[in-house]
Amino acid sequence: VSNIQYQQVVVPDGVIDLGVGQPNHALLPFEHVRQAAPSLLDDGPESLQYGAEWGDGHHRVALAEHLSVGYGVPIAPEHLFSTNGTSQALDMVCTVMSVPGDVVIVEDPTYFLAFQIFRDHGLDIRTAPMDGEGIDVAAVVRIVTDVRAAGGRVAFVYVVPAFHNPTSITMSQRRRDDLAAAASAIDVPVLADEVYHLLRHAPGAMPLPMSAYVERAPVVSLGTFSKILAPGLRLGWIHAAPSRLEPFAASGLIVSGGGLNPISSGLATAMIRTGRQAEHLAFVQATLGRRCAAMVAALRATCSDRVSFDVPDGGYFIWLRLPAGISGTQAREAGRREGVDVRHGALFSAVGAPDDHLRLSFAYYDEPDIVEGVRRLARALSSLGT
Ligand SMILES: Cc1ncc(COP(=O)(O)O)c(C=O)c1O
Repeated sequence: VSNIQYQQVVVPDGVIDLGVGQPNHALLPFEHVRQAAPSLLDDGPESLQYGAEWGDGHHRVALAEHLSVGYGVPIAPEHLFSTNGTSQALDMVCTVMSVPGDVVIVEDPTYFLAFQIFRDHGLDIRTAPMDGEGIDVAAVVRIVTDVRAAGGRVAFVYVVPAFHNPTSITMSQRRRDDLAAAASAIDVPVLADEVYHLLRHAPGAMPLPMSAYVERAPVVSLGTFSKILAPGLRLGWIHAAPSRLEPFAASGLIVSGGGLNPISSGLATAMIRTGRQAEHLAFVQATLGRRCAAMVAALRATCSDRVSFDVPDGGYFIWLRLPAGISGTQAREAGRREGVDVRHGALFSAVGAPDDHLRLSFAYYDEPDIVEGVRRLARALSSLGT
C-alpha cells in the first residue's frame, strides 16, 4: 500500500540527514540476530506466555553479567527491571514517580524528545545549566529550594551523564559524586538516562556510571539495547534499588500485561550468552569511532574558520557552535537548500536558550556520506555569508 509508513525515519531522496540519531543498517547485527532467533523457542510453549513482572529471569541474570563487565561495577540481577526501551521507561517513571503538576529538572540543553514525555504527564520542566563537567548541581539545589518554598514538589532530576545528547559532554566523576550527594541531601531522585554509557569510542577510561550509586543515593538508571543491539527490539532496563523498582512491578500496566518483553529479551539473552553482544558492541564502538573521525576531519577541512566544537570521545553527536549572527534555524534552512539536514540547537532547550548550535549525528551514515554531508553544510554556511 503506497501511503503506509514502514519506518520511523524516512529521509527524502537526495538528502543527507546528519540529524538522524539512530544506527544505520550497517550497525544492526542482522545475521547475528537471525542466528539467535530459533533459541527464542527453547522453553517450548512457555516461551509464548505472559512474562515475569520484573522481566524474564534468565534475561536479567545475563544482562547483569553483561553490565557488570561494561560498567565496571557489579550489577545485581535483582536490581534490574526490563522495559521496552528508554522512551517507555521514561514514560513509566513519570507514571510511577510523579503526579501531574510536579516539577522535573533537566539539563539545558538536553534530549528534546523527553520533553513531550514529561509534558504528557503534566510535569513542569525547569532547567539547570551545564558546564564541561555536567549539570550545575548548585542550580539544581536552588531550584528544589525555590519550588518547595512555593509549595511545589520536584519529582526527579533528569540527566544524560555520558556522551550527552546533544552536547556529547560526559559528566565528571566529581560532578557525579556531587550530584548523588546533593540528591541524598535534598531527597530528590536522579533519573540518569545512561543510553550512551557503553559507547565510548576513543581510548581512555569512563567515570563510573550513575548505576554505581543506586545503593547509596536516590538514583534510578535507564539503559537500552537500542544503541548497542537494535532499536526495533524495544528492549531496555531500569537499574535501581529493589525498593524503588517494586512500585514499577506493581503498576497497573505490569499487573495486567505481565513483564514487558518476553520475546525480545530472549533474543538479547541469546546474543549475550553466545558472546555476540560483546562482539557487536566492540564493532559499534569501532565503527562510530571511524565515523566520528571522518566527521571531525571533514569539519576541520571545510569550515574550521566558521564553527567550533569539542571532539567527542563517544556517543553519536557533535555539537557545533555557529558563528555569531547565524542561528541554528537559519543554518538548517540553508543546509536543506544544499541537500543536507541537521538538528538546530533550539530544539534541545526547554526554555528557549539562544539558537546558536547545530547537532550533527555520525551514527546514521557511512564515512563517504558523512564527508559529503559536511561539505554541503559548509557550502550552506558560506551561502549565509560567514
Ligand atoms: C538520551 C536518549 N534517551 C533515550 C533515547 C531513546 O531510547 P530508546 O530507543 O531506548 O527508547 C535516545 C535515543 O536517541 C536518547 O538519545
